[in-house]
Amino acid sequence: MANTLTHLAIIMDGNGRWATNQGKKRVEGHKRGAKVVDEITQWCVKEEISTLTLYAFSTENWKRPKYEVEFLMKMLKDYLESELEKYQRHNIRFFAIGDMSAFSTPLKERILYTQEATRHNTGLNQVLALNYGARNELSRAVMQIAKELEGKKAQEIEEMISSHLDTSRFGDVDLLIRTGGESRVSNFLLWQISYAELAFTPTLWPDFTPKELEDMIKEYKNRNRRFGGV
Ligand code: IPE
Ligand code: IPE
Ligand code: MG
Repeated sequence: MANTLTHLAIIMDGNGRWATNQGKKRVEGHKRGAKVVDEITQWCVKEEISTLTLYAFSTENWKRPKYEVEFLMKMLKDYLESELEKYQRHNIRFFAIGDMSAFSTPLKERILYTQEATRHNTGLNQVLALNYGARNELSRAVMQIAKELEGKKAQEIEEMISSHLDTSRFGDVDLLIRTGGESRVSNFLLWQISYAELAFTPTLWPDFTPKELEDMIKEYKNRNRRFGGV
């Protein structure tokens, strides 16, 4: 039996290198990357995947030059404004995970507004990881559950942790893809990928296509997922 794919997560890496290779500024890669987000999202809608979680900005990405960070923040807000019509047309429900408290008020409001405006949509969950770091997410979860821990068994605590994470409603990741040639996780979904299948491609995110995604998913579907069994 082929593996089912409920939750697909992607580390979208390689925008800067794509732009640099073309003699353009790094931010041109981010602009192009946003178009690819759209294409991949539409493909996931067509394929009836339940949840697509995309790593868009990490808790470590604040280290980048101010110009690039500001560009990404503005691009994100513009993206959410222009996407709303597509979310509604394609029945996409939008979610953000991560620590939004660091964002400007207009960006925070836009994120909340988009979540609210799409909450009745029943198709694809498009989850953008924004100022997301798995260690930050786990730390926030631990703060919330600290008071409830006394007398609990380890198994119960595992369930409590899962249910307090930003991703609680989506469940564990089935397949994690990273574009851009690096073989690392970069603080993305550490808890949720404990039994995910991993796939890496050298393709830079702006060059990533639905066809390559389709091929990677086909390969995933034929893997033998044993979950510790035989
Ligand atoms: C991923 O592409 C996008 C973000 C992290 C915002 P990069 O900007 O990391 O591109 P490279 O890795 O420098 O090529
Ligand atoms: C990971 O990419 C974060 C996102 C894709 C948002 P980075 O380019 O920031 O990761 P490192 O620096 O290569 O680990
Ligand atoms: Mg990178």
